[in-house]
Amino acid sequence: MKTQLLTLFIALCSVAVQCQDGLQTRAVAYLTGSEGKVEGNATFTQEDCDQNLSITAYVTGLSPGLHGFHIHEKGDLTNACFGLKNAFNPYNVDPTKARIFGDLGNLEANDEGIIDAILQNDKINFCGEVSIIGRGLIVHYSETILKNGFGPPCSTTQKTNCGVACGVIGIM
Ligand SMILES: *[C@@H]1O[C@H](CO)[C@@H](O)[C@H](O)[C@H]1NC(C)=O
Ligand SMILES: *[C@@H]1O[C@H](CO)[C@@H](O)[C@H](O)[C@H]1NC(C)=O
Repeated sequence: MKTQLLTLFIALCSVAVQCQDGLQTRAVAYLTGSEGKVEGNATFTQEDCDQNLSITAYVTGLSPGLHGFHIHEKGDLTNACFGLKNAFNPYNVDPTKARIFGDLGNLEANDEGIIDAILQNDKINFCGEVSIIGRGLIVHYSETILKNGFGPPCSTTQKTNCGVACGVIGIM
């Protein structure tokens, strides 16, 4: 009986902790490009606040090769990718020295221009003040590397390190 009560107590606690932290276990972002060529989705799954967040990404219409994949500060798509503002850097890390919070690295598109990837991240979170829910997600035109990795959205003149498709991370 005591063991059963203890088990129940532990079970209730873990539920309470999750609720307190506002944990959402799944989120999704639908990515669209301004020229309509690039599109895709990304799903985010986290079982608990202190665990890795796993991400699946499926994006088509890209050029073969590496593409920067970043979470940006805002989730405002009013003006295509422009409203997403800077890459999410809540701890003000110097991007020339270390990888910032929102930088999920580069994902490789195959010869057909498709990214089909699963990745693990131990920094980004659904919990607390640095939650990624409601923020922007950008696939960049090309490979991004630390110091010059956070370019603006693509325009007709600017085609390096800019965003080719973007979306907003929403609760699933
Ligand atoms: C993402 O896109 C792939 C390929 O079109 C599709 O199979 C999958 O169901 C999509 N995921 C979501 C969450 O929409
Ligand atoms: C968590 O993510 C980090 C960074 O990607 C990785 O090195 C580590 O193996 C992951 N841990 C688990 C349990 O998947």
